Amino acid sequence: MRGMLSPSLMCADILNLQSEIEALDNLGVDYIHLDFMDGKFVPNITLDASLIKAVKPVLKNMKRDIHIMAYEPQQYFDRMNIGEGDIVSVHIEACENLRDVLNIIRNRGAMPFLAISPDTKSEVINDFLDVIDGVLVMTVYPGFAGQPIVEGSFEKIAKVRKIIDNSGEDIILEVDGHVSWDLCHKMREYGADLFVAGSSSVYSKGMKIDEAVNKMMELIK
Ligand code: DX5
Ligand code: ZN
Repeated sequence: MRGMLSPSLMCADILNLQSEIEALDNLGVDYIHLDFMDGKFVPNITLDASLIKAVKPVLKNMKRDIHIMAYEPQQYFDRMNIGEGDIVSVHIEACENLRDVLNIIRNRGAMPFLAISPDTKSEVINDFLDVIDGVLVMTVYPGFAGQPIVEGSFEKIAKVRKIIDNSGEDIILEVDGHVSWDLCHKMREYGADLFVAGSSSVYSKGMKIDEAVNKMMELIK
C-alpha cells in the first residue's frame, strides 16, 4: 500500500479552517484527521461534532479521518453524519461493547478503525481483526498536539504490522502523534501506511502548506 497523509485539523489555523481544508484537498491529500474529545476520556476538548459534520460537504476528493477520544462514541455518529468514505477510530477503553460499536460504524458504510493508546497492548487487536479496516497506533498520549514521541513506539508499530500481516486481512496501519519530519520515514519503514501530520510536520511554523505537504508525501511514499 502506498503511504497516505492525514493532516490534523486541530493543528491548522482555526480562524481559517475552510481555506485550510480546501488547500489540502487541492494538493491531493487523501484524508483530513479530525480529533473529537469529550473532556472525560481525555482531558481536553477540540473540534466539536457539528464542525466535523460541516467539513463533509466541503470536501472534493479528500475523506474524513475521524478520531473519537470520547466514551461511548456511537452517541455522536448522527451528529457527525458518519457514513460512506469516513474512517472512524474508536478506543477500546471507551466502549462498553467494542464489537457492537465497530459494527455500527461498518453498517453506516464507514471504515471502523481501532485506536490503541501508548499504554494499551497491541494484542488487543487480535479479537477484532475480522471487523476492522484499520488500526490507529497512538505514538503520543491522546489529547494534545506537540508532545514528544512515546518510547517504544517503533516496536509497537512493528508488532502491529506483524499481527496485521499474519492475519492476511486488508487492514491499514495509521500512526498518530509526533509524526515529525525526522521520524515519519522511519515509521514508514516500520510498517505505517497512513500518517497523521500535525505540529511536528506539515503545521510546523514558517512553512507554506503546499511545500510542507509535498515534502511529507515524498518522505512517506
Ligand atoms: C492527537 C492528534 C494530534 C496530533 C498532532 O490525537 O491527532 O495531537 O498528534 O500532531 P503532533 O503530535 O505532530 O503535534
Ligand atoms: Zn488523532
